[in-house]
Amino acid sequence: MGFSKGTLLTFAAALLATFGMQAAEAQAPAGDAAHGAKIAYTCLGCHGIPDQRNAYPNYHVPKIGGQHYGYLVAALGEYRAGARQHPTMRGQASSVSEQDARDVAAYFSTEKPVTSAGKPTGTAPAAAQTCVACHGPDGVGILPDYPTLAGQHYDYIEQALKAYRAGKRQNAIMNGMAAALKDEDIRALAEYFSQQSPSLWVPLPPHSTAAR
Ligand code: HEC
Ligand code: HEC
Repeated sequence: MGFSKGTLLTFAAALLATFGMQAAEAQAPAGDAAHGAKIAYTCLGCHGIPDQRNAYPNYHVPKIGGQHYGYLVAALGEYRAGARQHPTMRGQASSVSEQDARDVAAYFSTEKPVTSAGKPTGTAPAAAQTCVACHGPDGVGILPDYPTLAGQHYDYIEQALKAYRAGKRQNAIMNGMAAALKDEDIRALAEYFSQQSPSLWVPLPPHSTAAR
């Protein structure tokens, strides 16, 4: 697959940024998934219910099963710090300590994040050229700090991109990436990435008999 020069430059910048982040992460204590399972009980009240939705605006609660550990820790930190303005998740993220956030992230990532199958489903829209440098051609983030988008709910991806574009989520990389996207680009990107597999999943509460 041929990538444009711009894509390769973005890719190089992404690698540089990530080596810095990984050095910091290596020093931090790792998460304890067994302890995380206990904390996860509350989280599963929303994240463990297939088809659970945020009310206003209406969109699916994100799938976090199989998401990268590093990204989950970062996202929780952003809700806590207010860089992501979602009142409920801000409350949830603030109710756990930083160590508990690492533990619960270890539980949801099951220390075995979704890995790339190497073969994308369907044809990527033109707007995805830049995105795949970090999120991977089949939506599996190429490094632990880049979220996997494969199989994520369509309407959640759409909501997240609009939030970055509007500055309701503050992230240096993604605010820049979303700035120039039109609504139709966002729909095409959300459709493409939500169709990819292997997919993120809805982590079900223990003893649940419902299917994934
Ligand atoms: C009342 C329902 C509810 C509960 C309880 C809840 N969440 Fe959430 N969570 C949401 C919603 C809705 C979003 C999407 C928010 C947004 O649009 O930014 C979200 C987003 C997230 C994200 C970002 C995912 C991504 O892909 O960007 C993470 C990580 C997360 N929640 C983890 C947790 C953890 C850990 C707990 C338990 C400590 C928890 N949540 C409890 C509803 C909930
Ligand atoms: C240089 C690397 C890079 C590029 C290129 C990039 N992203 Fe991202 N993306 C990230 C990072 C890092 C995050 C996490 C940001 C945060 O913590 O809020 C992210 C977050 C996201 C999220 C939120 C996921 C979630 O679970 O909440 C979506 C959706 C997304 N990106 C889509 C895109 C699309 C579409 C493009 C192309 C237009 C793109 N990204 C380009 C690095 C990148």
